[in-house]
Amino acid sequence: MALRRFDLEAGGDTFSFKPETEPTIAFWLAKYPEDKKRSGVIPLLWLAQKDNAGWLSEPAMREVADRLEMPYIRVYEVATFYTMFRLQPVGKHHIQLCGTTPCMLRGANDLKEVCQSKIGDKMHVTDDGRLSWEEVECLGACVNAPMVQINDYYYEDLTPETLDDILAKLQNGAEVKPGTFVDRLNSAPEGGATSLLDAELFDGSRNQIASLPNLPTDAPAPEVEAAPAPKPAAKKTLIDATKAVAKAMPKAEEIEGDKPEMVEVAKGEEDDLKRIKGIGPVNERALNSLGIYKFAQIAAWTPANVDWIEGSMSFPGRVEREDWIAQAKQLAEGAETEFSKRVDAGEVESSKDEGDA
Ligand code: FES
Repeated sequence: MALRRFDLEAGGDTFSFKPETEPTIAFWLAKYPEDKKRSGVIPLLWLAQKDNAGWLSEPAMREVADRLEMPYIRVYEVATFYTMFRLQPVGKHHIQLCGTTPCMLRGANDLKEVCQSKIGDKMHVTDDGRLSWEEVECLGACVNAPMVQINDYYYEDLTPETLDDILAKLQNGAEVKPGTFVDRLNSAPEGGATSLLDAELFDGSRNQIASLPNLPTDAPAPEVEAAPAPKPAAKKTLIDATKAVAKAMPKAEEIEGDKPEMVEVAKGEEDDLKRIKGIGPVNERALNSLGIYKFAQIAAWTPANVDWIEGSMSFPGRVEREDWIAQAKQLAEGAETEFSKRVDAGEVESSKDEGDA
């Protein structure tokens, strides 16, 4: 384990908890008997770190030790052992970049290069005090690798471009919504759920116990009610996800930008928008609900139209980031893109229609 030392100079001589933190301290200490209150050392160090701009100065550790009536050395031991505690100043937005194997295999080294070029060496704080970074071990979000944690939140499924964009926004004082940066719900497959779609798995109809394992042979068999007739298999998950997207859409008057031209098309005449990288079944339905059915419509979007669409669908920056318009232009002209070839070949999930899903 790396040797971790305090930054004695940067920490000054004193530290006090913020008054608004006191109720939280009382909450944690109430969990332990008075003579065992030192058990609260980790939560109190965590709160001290939050009140000290994201890192633990030596006076902050002393304050925790005094409150818990612990020898200072015991608190120093805890703070220097756990890497969740930082012992030198960090930027307003501190990036913890996971470099462990799953993230490394999915491109974490490229993300490191972005941090290195945009911020500098590990634990360097940018001159404006906004950014710093470090490499950490697995943060438990491997399914959405590669990822980073920025302060308290996870940013997942990143590419060098998306991370570069996030850092630029944070440096300019903008906020960036955490979560995944591809078309998936949490850690579900990209483009929509592909398994566990049978509604009977969740409606309780399969919970009837027909026989108990190891039941003595002379014991009466338990009475069971006949299972209800199976309901038709549902495409419920996808539909529900689409409804959720529609419900989450902001009201028209709250959306900035210009509403693009809507069209009505006869059934079967709509384009397969899922051939555009970044548009899965859920987003396709959301676009259809906004009157967008054709590649040519997307190809003709102006920047103001893009603002309106991104505002309506609550995913700022995504149309540009995933280059929807350039893809749509090619597809509208009858050409193919690398992604559409993979969709047409059935190599990616978003090539499947709902019946396949
Ligand atoms: S390996 Fe990166 S989150 Fe697990």
